[in-house]
Amino acid sequence: MAPMAGITNLPFRLIVKKMGAGLVTTEMISAMGLTLRHKKTYSYVKSHPDERPLAVQIFGSRPEVMAEAAEIVVDAGANIVDINMGCPAKKVVKTGAGGALLCAPNKVKELVSAVRRACTVPLTVKIRAGWATDDQPVAYEIARIIEDCGADAITVHPRFVTQSFSRQSNWSIIANIKKILNIPVIGNGDVLNPSLALKMKRQTGCDGVMIGRGAIGNPWIFKQIPAADMGKAVYKPELSERRALIMEHFRHLSSFMGENRAAKNMRGLLIRYTKGLPHSRHFRGAFTGIKDFDTLISALDNYFTHIKGYPKH
Ligand SMILES: Cc1cc2nc3c(=O)[nH]c(=O)nc-3n(C[C@H](O)[C@H](O)[C@H](O)COP(=O)(O)O)c2cc1C
Repeated sequence: MAPMAGITNLPFRLIVKKMGAGLVTTEMISAMGLTLRHKKTYSYVKSHPDERPLAVQIFGSRPEVMAEAAEIVVDAGANIVDINMGCPAKKVVKTGAGGALLCAPNKVKELVSAVRRACTVPLTVKIRAGWATDDQPVAYEIARIIEDCGADAITVHPRFVTQSFSRQSNWSIIANIKKILNIPVIGNGDVLNPSLALKMKRQTGCDGVMIGRGAIGNPWIFKQIPAADMGKAVYKPELSERRALIMEHFRHLSSFMGENRAAKNMRGLLIRYTKGLPHSRHFRGAFTGIKDFDTLISALDNYFTHIKGYPKH
């Protein structure tokens, strides 16, 4: 499961883990915030035995701060430390962190070496193709440096930082990195359904596939992929199963962040959980009005009763 800010919190991770995700990751966590012991930052490291092994992703640009942050998250129970080298958000790159690191190979060397020395668990790094589309993909040079500095695996999201999410990711970059490295290479980018996961593995030879957006609203994708690999029909959850999972997700969220915040969080998720089902668009208004457990139940009851007679989705 890919790290996704605002999405891959503990409740979300527990849901996808239950569906068969091999490895889950926290969202990116500020190394500076961790070293300054900010309460909110530290809360992102909270974990549960059922989701293990857990990768914790940290971001920052100062090697000594990143090294200290790695120690903090390992003490807090991280089984793997992952370094973010792809985030395109302005507030991150302006500090030299995230995707900005791809422009600074020497800094990458210092930073990965420092974290490697401090980190007693496996270390992974997640990169993009490079900074801008008119650059050569610096990912090759950066990937070699990362391996030489002792990282245990690398994830490649083959889009340039300035591209954000536009156009398709270029999987041939994953294939090329796989050819030049010895450590495992995890491919990422645009795996939005089970057959694309198999296609990525076939086309790139990657050792693992990381899935982000394709799991939002469809955590079943982690069951669907092994089934597709065995040539079975795509597993489609019954409405009752879909409903039960939504409720479970909401219950986890409520105990994690309180009912009000959980309701807000659930509004967007519900749109994703019902995407592609009949008439879901007509019910969006009701979904976005969810305030608490009762309004969630009534919106779900209304919607699922409405579509009950439709053919299997
Ligand atoms: C809402 C959102 C938040 C994200 N947050 C992070 C993050 O915290 N750290 C990170 O490395 N990548 C982050 N990403 C990028 C994803 O991990 C992944 O690389 C990207 O979505 C491409 O994979 P996909 O096509 O399977 O979604 C985020 C993506 C989305 C959509």
